[in-house]
Amino acid sequence: MPITRKEEEVLNEHFLINSYVEGFTVSQADLCLLKQFTSLPSQDLINLQRWHRHIASFTEEKFIFPDSKSNNLSIIQNGIKVQIMVNTSEENVAIDGNDFKVVEDDVVDPWNVQAASNKGIDYDKLIDRFGSSRIDEALLERFEKLTGQKPHHFLRRGIFFSHRDMHRVLNLVEAGKKFFLYTGRGPSSEAMHVGHLIPFIMTKWLQDVFDVPLVIQLTDDEKYLWKDLKLEQCNKLAYENAKDIIAVGFDRNKTFIFSDIDFVGGAFYKNVLMVQKHVTFNQVKGIFGFDESSNIGKIMFPAIQAVPSFSSSFPFIFGGKKDVPCLIPCAIDQDPYFRMTRDVAPRLGFQKPALIHSTFFPALQGASSKMSASDENSSIFLTDTANQIKKKINKYAFSGGRDTIEEHREKGGDCEVDVSYMYLQFFMEDDDKLENIHQQYSSGQMLTGELKAELIKILQKLIGDHQERRKNVTDNDIKEYMSPRPLNFIESK
Ligand code: TRP
Repeated sequence: MPITRKEEEVLNEHFLINSYVEGFTVSQADLCLLKQFTSLPSQDLINLQRWHRHIASFTEEKFIFPDSKSNNLSIIQNGIKVQIMVNTSEENVAIDGNDFKVVEDDVVDPWNVQAASNKGIDYDKLIDRFGSSRIDEALLERFEKLTGQKPHHFLRRGIFFSHRDMHRVLNLVEAGKKFFLYTGRGPSSEAMHVGHLIPFIMTKWLQDVFDVPLVIQLTDDEKYLWKDLKLEQCNKLAYENAKDIIAVGFDRNKTFIFSDIDFVGGAFYKNVLMVQKHVTFNQVKGIFGFDESSNIGKIMFPAIQAVPSFSSSFPFIFGGKKDVPCLIPCAIDQDPYFRMTRDVAPRLGFQKPALIHSTFFPALQGASSKMSASDENSSIFLTDTANQIKKKINKYAFSGGRDTIEEHREKGGDCEVDVSYMYLQFFMEDDDKLENIHQQYSSGQMLTGELKAELIKILQKLIGDHQERRKNVTDNDIKEYMSPRPLNFIESK
């Protein structure tokens, strides 16, 4: 049915504060709505006009718009409803005949992560929306068979929960071929917190078990373009953060760390240019939500984050080989960059990078609140003292325990919302011990204070050890890790 004037007014209101049907990012829902217009929207409704012009301007890029978050979407204002997508699958109609409110969904992109519920992001939905695959038992079994090692607990516990093309990487390993690892960090503050370590810990494990080269990109350029920071400051932070990264313990003969500001040029920049030529403004608008008022550095930046996925960007490591496959461990919010990368790669004659995605590390205040480097009480920092760790956990870690001891003993604690328990899942390596705690806490035998004491012990050790290793990182170490050099890359036949 064509859109009525009343409905147009509702949409005009919506587009006053939202760029797209689903808020900040374009999706298939915008296409659905566009198709409902049989003529141009009324001239006087300027927000609706702007949206219509924008969506209609996309050509073939339309097909790579991400799926919408829900297939039963409507926009409601003052009791008037515009149906945008109607779910035809019986299953969902049966569950819920009501309307979805768009804003109640999780938000996940490289700059915003906001969960709708205090249990955190709905990762199953995210896999559907992003079109990636779940890391399942079968994949874990293959890992184990090929490496002869029990998969890391991040993999076993679903902390790394999603992947793209991991089977292809394992096929290569099976055939005796090598791949390389790529990960990175945006250095926006000196204060790294334990959550920032997750991808690096995973990456180190992968480097150890597969014995492969690793490149680590420090996007000081990205932080300069996005944050209110001086260029020199971002560059300096890259080198500060490099110390923490080196302290994770990467193999010094197999790891190259670089600051974009200092490294981009030569073969790397040639690949950047090729990506730039093959991605349009409309595409990055669709993927990242840029608009006409975004600074032009942001618009080109995704090309810089894309090209470390291609082995020819590092001729000193791979001797000019174009086809060494790449595996990227990262938090799932970085996926948009690599969706773009995977989209252009074949057009440039490169391999698509494979990915494994992690869930987000929850803030102390709970999985639905934001963790921020500027709020020192929202997380545990790598610079915290043993005493600060203890105080913060005891004071701020959101508890799934009950209000009184009696009630707790009777009903038990709720591990699903308890932040200390969530942190134990990240950092307590012993499966049996963790299982035991789960059982005792949820049955009420274990109290919140006791649970927190377990976590405090583990974090004090983890961070104490990290600080010790970081203290021992010398200027010479930094020079070595950050100098372009061969990394003993030998492709076995
Ligand atoms: N953009 C990332 C950040 O802000 C940094 C980054 C660059 C990255 N390349 C990466 C992260 C590859 C993971 C994988 O933190």
